[in-house]
Amino acid sequence: MKTLTLTIKGGSDKDGRADAVNEVEIVSGEIIGIVGPTGSGKSTLIADIEQFAQGDTPSGRSILIDGEEPEPTLRTDPRKKLVAQLSQNMHFLADMSVEDFLRMHAKSRGKNGDTANKVVELANTLTGEPINPGHPLTILSGGQSRALMTADIAVISDSPIVLIDEIENAGIKKKEALHLLAGEGKIVVVVTHDPMLALMASRRIVMKNGGMTKVISTTDQEHRVFLDIEKVDGWLTTLRETIRRGEVVVA
Ligand SMILES: Nc1ncnc2c1ncn2[C@@H]1O[C@H](COP(=O)(O)OP(=O)(O)O)[C@@H](O)[C@H]1O
Ligand SMILES: [Mg+2]
Repeated sequence: MKTLTLTIKGGSDKDGRADAVNEVEIVSGEIIGIVGPTGSGKSTLIADIEQFAQGDTPSGRSILIDGEEPEPTLRTDPRKKLVAQLSQNMHFLADMSVEDFLRMHAKSRGKNGDTANKVVELANTLTGEPINPGHPLTILSGGQSRALMTADIAVISDSPIVLIDEIENAGIKKKEALHLLAGEGKIVVVVTHDPMLALMASRRIVMKNGGMTKVISTTDQEHRVFLDIEKVDGWLTTLRETIRRGEVVVA
């Protein structure tokens, strides 16, 4: 995948005051967080990126790709779509099996049907509850759906930019999911207050009153905290699996 640069050009906050951060440049392979209280403008910033805002959204921000205003076709043509969004609720097409859906999606992106199996395999590395390709999409659990969607974005969609607005934790190996996406050379923008995800990002944009107030680069100390959280998280995952298997936890 070719590398690209995504630039967010500052606009204004809810009171019309200029964003204190007037430019953020993000390159392929980077995970960047967005943090701030409810109502501070996190989803609005995600939406600005998703739409390639050109001063035409409430924030007045604009988005550049490789330093330039993106061509209009990049905003509309699904095959050229640079942005994939991992949303909280997936509205999958009812009545389709996992496999049929993936085959259809692969085909629409000009990939062969075998890609579908690869997606299921990969998804099953992200969830503790294996997905059966023959099952209808509608019976997937929340964790299975999120795992499937993550794998789908990694394998089938070529979109080099992935936006994640407060993905729920339940049932998906979050860290592996982000690594998978960033490892494919994608830009991953994630709204999260989950300490593991926030500290896994190399930087995080702090939102307040609709504005981008500052960008914090993850410190060495924070990285060490991340490594500790990672251990605890791994331990919790192991415990969960033991309990799921109907076994007794030993200390
Ligand atoms: N820069 C901005 N300029 C004007 N309105 C904004 C701006 N940022 C956010 N808003 C408005 O504030 C409200 C909350 O923003 P939202 O992005 O949903 O916050 P969050 O996702 O952090 O909870 C929304 O109605 C949104 O339209
Ligand atoms: Mg929001």
